[in-house]
Amino acid sequence: MSIFERPGTRTWLIGLIGVIVVAALILVILAISSGSEPAADQKVDALANSNNECVVCHRKTTPGIVEQYGHSTMAGAEVECEDCHQVAVDYPGAEEHEGVYILASPTTAMCEDCHQAEVDQYNASRHAIPSYVAYAGAQALDENLLAMYQNIPEGSYNPDRSRNEIYHLEGPEITRFACEACHNIGKPAEDGSVGQCQKCHLRHEFSLEQVRKPETCNACHIGPDHPQFEIYTESPHGIAYATGGDDWGWDTEPGMLTVQDFPAPTCATCHISGFGGTATTHDVGERLTWYLFAPVSERRPAWQDNQVRMQTVCGECHNEVWLEDFYADGDALVEKVNAWVLESREIIKPLQDNGLITDDPFDEPIDFVFFELWHHWGRTAKFGAWMQGPDYTQWHGAYEMLSDLAELREMVDGKLEAAGLEP
Ligand code: HEC
Ligand code: HEC
Ligand code: HEC
Ligand code: HEC
Ligand code: HEC
Ligand code: HEC
Ligand code: HEC
Ligand code: HEC
Repeated sequence: MSIFERPGTRTWLIGLIGVIVVAALILVILAISSGSEPAADQKVDALANSNNECVVCHRKTTPGIVEQYGHSTMAGAEVECEDCHQVAVDYPGAEEHEGVYILASPTTAMCEDCHQAEVDQYNASRHAIPSYVAYAGAQALDENLLAMYQNIPEGSYNPDRSRNEIYHLEGPEITRFACEACHNIGKPAEDGSVGQCQKCHLRHEFSLEQVRKPETCNACHIGPDHPQFEIYTESPHGIAYATGGDDWGWDTEPGMLTVQDFPAPTCATCHISGFGGTATTHDVGERLTWYLFAPVSERRPAWQDNQVRMQTVCGECHNEVWLEDFYADGDALVEKVNAWVLESREIIKPLQDNGLITDDPFDEPIDFVFFELWHHWGRTAKFGAWMQGPDYTQWHGAYEMLSDLAELREMVDGKLEAAGLEP
C-alpha cells in the first residue's frame, strides 16, 4: 500500500490540491482582469461582439478596417458601416454589393447627415472647391458647383493661373500623383457634394489625436512653395511639440481644449481647434488676414474679424501688446516682399513690351526664374515670418529672392542686347 492509498493521506492531499487549484484560479482571474483593463489611452473595441453583417464578413476580408473602426468614437456611438456606405439603388455612384447598394468611397453628403456644421464650414473654405479649381480651372465646374464656388467669400480670389498651365503641360500621367493627390481635398463627387474629409480624418479611426497632430497637415503643406510643416518644426511651438507632445491632451473633447492640454499650439490649434474664446472651425481661412499665397499679397475681405479670432488663440499664451507688435512686424515683411515681386515685374516688362518673351508658359529659363522668385521664395519668406521659421524667411526666402532678382536683371539685359536694344 503506497501512501497515496492510505485513506487519511488521500483526504489531506485532495484538500491540498483543492487549495492550490483555488489559489491558482484566483491568480489567473486577477491576471486576466488586470490585463484586460483598458489602459487610459486605449479605447475598447465597440465591434467586438457585433453581429452586423458588414462587420462579420469584413472581419475576414478587410480585418484592418473593422479593427480600426471598432476603436473609433463613432463606432462607440453606434454609427454603423451602413451609415456611411449604404445608399439607394439610384444614388449616383452606387455599386451593388452583397444584396445592397453601397458607395465604395462615401462622400461628404454622408457625413453631412450628422455633421452639418462641419460640412457647411468646410464648403465655405479654400479646402473645398477652390482647391480643385486650383488645378482643374473653374471651367471644370457645372452650374451648381460654379454658383457654390462664387459664393465662397474668399474662394474665387485667384490672382495667378500659371499653375494650371503646369498642370496641362505635365499631363495626367504625372498630375494624378502630384497636383491631384493634394488638391483633391476639394474634389467634387458624383452626387454633387464636395471634398474628401478622409484627407485629414484618416479612415477608419477618425481619431482626434491623429488629426490634431501636425504630421496630418504635412501630407500637403510641405515643400519649397509652402513649407509650413518645415517652418513649424523649427519654431518654438514645433520644438515644444517634438519634445513634450507625448504628454499633451490629444483626446480632449473639441471645444474644451485649454493650455493644460496644449502648452504650445499645433497647426490645428491655430487654424482649426476651438481654443480660448475662438470656436472650432472647418473654415481654415477664418483666422487669416492676408492672401499670403498670392504673388503680391492683398488683405482678405474680413481680415479684421479674422485677426481677432487668431489673436484670441495666441492670447491664451502671449500678451496683447506683444501680439500687436508681432502683427505690425509681420505686415511690414509682407509689404517688403510685395515690393520685391513688383520690382521683378518691372524688370521683365521691357521684354514683354518688345515681344522678346514668348506667350507660351514655361518654355524658356527666364519663365522659371520669374516664377520661382515669388512662388517659392517670396511665399516662403512670408510663411517663415508668420509661423516662426527664421531660416525659411532668411536663407530659403529673402536671400533667394535677392539672388533671383540679380539673375533676372542679367537675363533681361542679355536678351535686350541680343535684340540690339538698350539694356
Ligand atoms: C459576405 C461577405 C461580405 C458582406 C456581408 C459585405 N461585404 Fe463588403 N466586401 C466583401 C468583399 C469580399 C469585398 C472585396 C474585397 C476586395 O476586393 O479585396 C468587399 C468590398 C467592400 C467595399 C469596397 C468596394 C470597392 O469597390 O472598393 C466596401 C466599401 C464594402 N465592401 C462595404 C460593405 C458594407 C458597408 C457592407 C454591409 C452593408 C458589406 N460590405 C458587406 C465582402 C462582404
Ligand atoms: C464615418 C463613415 C464611415 C464608416 C462608419 C465606415 N466607413 Fe468605410 N470608408 C469611409 C471612407 C470615407 C472611405 C474612403 C474612401 C476613399 O478613400 O476613397 C471608406 C472606405 C472603405 C473601404 C474601401 C477601402 C479601400 O481602401 O479599398 C471599405 C472596404 C470600407 N470602407 C469598409 C467599411 C466597413 C466594413 C465599415 C464598418 C466596419 C466601414 N467601412 C465604416 C467611411 C466610413
Ligand atoms: C449616422 C451619423 C454619422 C455619420 C453619417 C457620420 N458621423 Fe461622425 N460622428 C457621429 C457621432 C454620433 C459622433 C460622436 C459624437 C460625440 O461623441 O461627440 C461622431 C464623431 C465624429 C468625429 C469626432 C471623433 C472623436 O473622437 O471625437 C469625427 C472626426 C467624425 N465623426 C467624422 C465623420 C466623417 C468624416 C464622416 C463622413 C465620412 C462622418 N463622421 C459621418 C455620427 C456620424
Ligand atoms: C504637396 C501637395 C501639393 C501639390 C503636389 C500641389 N499643390 Fe498646389 N497647393 C498646395 C497647398 C498646401 C497650397 C496652399 C498654400 C497656401 O495657402 O499657402 C497650394 C496652393 C496652390 C494654388 C494657390 C491657391 C489658389 O487656389 O489659387 C494653386 C493655383 C495651386 N496650388 C495649384 C497647383 C497645381 C496646378 C499643382 C500641380 C502642378 C499643384 N498645385 C500641386 C498643395 C499642393
Ligand atoms: C490633402 C492635402 C491637404 C491636407 C492634408 C491639408 N491641407 Fe490645407 N490646404 C490644401 C490645399 C490644396 C490648400 C490650398 C487651397 C487653395 O487656396 O486653393 C490648402 C490651404 C490651407 C490654408 C489656407 C486657406 C486659405 O483660405 O487660404 C490653411 C490655413 C490650411 N490649408 C491649413 C491646414 C491645416 C491646419 C491642415 C492640417 C490639420 C491642413 N491644411 C491639411 C491641402 C491640404
Ligand atoms: C484640414 C484637415 C481637416 C479636414 C479636411 C476635415 N477635418 Fe474635421 N477636424 C479637423 C481637426 C483638426 C479637428 C479637431 C478640432 C479640435 O481640435 O477641436 C476636426 C474635428 C472634427 C469633428 C469633431 C468636431 C466636434 O466639435 O466634435 C468632426 C465631426 C469633423 N471634424 C468632421 C469633419 C467632416 C465631416 C469633414 C469633411 C467635410 C472634415 N471634418 C474634414 C481637421 C479636418
Ligand atoms: C502659432 C500659430 C500657428 C501655427 C502653429 C501654424 N500656423 Fe499657419 N499661420 C499662422 C498665422 C498667424 C498665419 C498668417 C495669418 C494671416 O494672414 O494673418 C498663418 C498662415 C498659414 C497659411 C497661409 C495661408 C495663405 O494666406 O496663403 C497656411 C497654409 C498655414 N498657415 C498652414 C499651417 C500649417 C500646415 C501649420 C502646421 C505645419 C501651421 N500653419 C502652423 C499661425 C499658425
Ligand atoms: C498654447 C500656447 C501658445 C499659443 C496659443 C501660441 N503660442 Fe507662441 N509660443 C508659445 C511658447 C511656449 C513659446 C516658446 C516661448 C519661449 O521661447 O520660451 C512661444 C513662442 C512664440 C514666438 C517666439 C518668441 C521668441 O521670443 O522667440 C512667437 C513669435 C510666437 N510664439 C507667436 C505666436 C503667435 C503669433 C501665436 C498665435 C497665432 C502664438 N504664438 C500662439 C506658446 C503659444
